[in-house]
Amino acid sequence: MAGLTKSPSEEREGLLSGVNTPSVSEPDTSKASPFRQQSTRLSLAGIGVLLGLILSVFYWLRVPPRLVNNLYLGGQTLRSNGTQKFKRTVLLVSIDGLRHTLQSKHYLDRGLTPHLLDVSKKGLRAKFMKPVFPTLTFPNHWTLMTGLYTESHGIVANNFWDAETDSEFHYNNISSCWEPHWWLGEPMWETAKKAGLITANLMWPGPAKTLSGASPTYFVPWANKVSLDTKLAQILDWIDLPLSERPQLILTYEPSLDQAGHAKGPYSREVNETLRYVDGFVRDLHDSLVARNLTEIVDVIFVSDHGMTDTSHPELVYIDDLLGENGWKAVKHEDGWPSMGLHFDPSANASHYLDVLLTAAEDNSEKFDVYTPQTMPERYHFAHSSRIAPVYVVPKTGYVLTTRAEGDVGLSKGNHGYDNNDPTMNAVFVAHGPFSSTAKIAHDKQSSSYRLRGPFNPNKGWHSTSDDTYVMDGFQNVEIYNLVMKLLGIPQAEAAQTNGTTGFWDIFF
Ligand SMILES: *[C@@H]1O[C@H](CO)[C@@H](O)[C@H](O)[C@H]1NC(C)=O
Ligand SMILES: *[C@@H]1O[C@H](CO)[C@@H](O)[C@H](O)[C@H]1NC(C)=O
Ligand SMILES: *[C@@H]1O[C@H](CO)[C@@H](O)[C@H](O)[C@H]1NC(C)=O
Ligand SMILES: *[C@@H]1O[C@H](CO)[C@@H](O)[C@H](O)[C@H]1NC(C)=O
Ligand SMILES: *[C@@H]1O[C@H](CO)[C@@H](O)[C@H](O)[C@H]1NC(C)=O
Ligand SMILES: *[C@@H]1O[C@H](CO)[C@@H](O)[C@H](O)[C@H]1NC(C)=O
Ligand SMILES: [Zn+2]
Repeated sequence: MAGLTKSPSEEREGLLSGVNTPSVSEPDTSKASPFRQQSTRLSLAGIGVLLGLILSVFYWLRVPPRLVNNLYLGGQTLRSNGTQKFKRTVLLVSIDGLRHTLQSKHYLDRGLTPHLLDVSKKGLRAKFMKPVFPTLTFPNHWTLMTGLYTESHGIVANNFWDAETDSEFHYNNISSCWEPHWWLGEPMWETAKKAGLITANLMWPGPAKTLSGASPTYFVPWANKVSLDTKLAQILDWIDLPLSERPQLILTYEPSLDQAGHAKGPYSREVNETLRYVDGFVRDLHDSLVARNLTEIVDVIFVSDHGMTDTSHPELVYIDDLLGENGWKAVKHEDGWPSMGLHFDPSANASHYLDVLLTAAEDNSEKFDVYTPQTMPERYHFAHSSRIAPVYVVPKTGYVLTTRAEGDVGLSKGNHGYDNNDPTMNAVFVAHGPFSSTAKIAHDKQSSSYRLRGPFNPNKGWHSTSDDTYVMDGFQNVEIYNLVMKLLGIPQAEAAQTNGTTGFWDIFF
């Protein structure tokens, strides 16, 4: 037998496993209409042009609505909802495993999430949000917090061996994985706190404290099977606090959809039911904000960490067959799932086994790839960290690495962790609040000034726009940190360095 950390069975069954079949309320009857593509409307000759020009001039010259101004006010500026004063507030909600693809099996296109679709029309959504590699929960939740690629934030898988400190990170072992030294980079709640803001964290995957000693003002640690009603009540408790105690940044995490996806697969009845359950939460949250007259004060952003692919009929790849008995025995530690990062025993000829695996990968190029940090695809940004195993076997979507002993026992029916360019790995981004209002106004202004002045792309940053549906181009989740900084009014100089694109959000403001 090889080392202690081989094939932890939780990984095979899926993260935080256990199906949580929630009590499901009746689906709403309101109908979700499909998104329309915008056809670029260019003025033709004659009166149309003249009218268009005149209207454009008026549109361009008019005083921008107060919403726009509001976003440019200083971070501590107060707004009233009619009875209470509020500072800018951002509520970031992660629905684990909420898949977003362009294919017909899109989770949001099943007609089971009418409220999330409705919120995305009242606000906006992205065509997709691309996760970082590996497309796993902990790496991506920490990227969402820090704006950093995996290699820079140090959480290189849900479980991995760190050769430098000779110790293991395992997401399930709270006492060791919450040790601040694992978590590199600066999470948005730390930046916000440094800027003097009150923050709240409801189970977001990650530590209670960073190396600098910072922690969220309010912190509710991870617990499984806490209902969304309970989570909503906690969020509202925070929002209803008096101004001096009320958090401006609230983070919330919900795992049930990922759990259902792993246990039963993305096309299962359980995933359908859980989509309805999550959609009920979206409805209740939205209604609660409407009831408090807060929809133009609180920015709600729904994201997910990654998608989910069907692995109910997996093609098995036997790693012990590839390496041979001695080779498999020489594997000391095994990182990640469904990829395998391999650490060989120092006494073994690791370069020999690497050669063996490289040859096998050449012969089975449709099934898996084998990389070292030197050959890892650049776009993964998954090389420059001592925590990344020296040999990485990365299966193609639908293939599963296993051993003869383990076979297909306990394999999950749905999985993620694969290539982040695979559309089934894509995550969602839906936003509603002052940001979406501002972004829509900015778009309309830009496209009318385009009609007036010509030569730049009025739809830059947008996939499609129409009167009731604004869809941003797809973008990567490393951009989220900077969006939240902008919404909270934290200046660039006070924010951390990220791998986000400089100026990425400017066209939306
Ligand atoms: C709701 O809030 C807005 C500011 O966002 C305020 O102008 C308006 O008066 C409020 N409405 C009520 C009914 O209090
Ligand atoms: C959790 O991690 C600690 C520190 O590395 C270790 O001593 C302990 O055995 C681990 N617990 C389990 C259940 O693996
Ligand atoms: C899930 O929902 C979709 C859309 O309503 C439906 O077509 C599909 O049959 C459902 N799947 C199951 C297994 O119930
Ligand atoms: C403003 O928000 C407070 C706190 O959440 C709430 O109690 C109050 O009813 C809201 N005011 C309006 C006009 O909705
Ligand atoms: C280790 O493997 C490499 C590549 O297969 C081979 O060239 C080398 O001779 C081996 N070294 C030893 C000490 O066996
Ligand atoms: C990502 O950002 C970190 C922190 O600024 C930086 O050290 C790293 O080089 C960046 N990575 C890339 C690929 O630009
Ligand atoms: Zn996840």
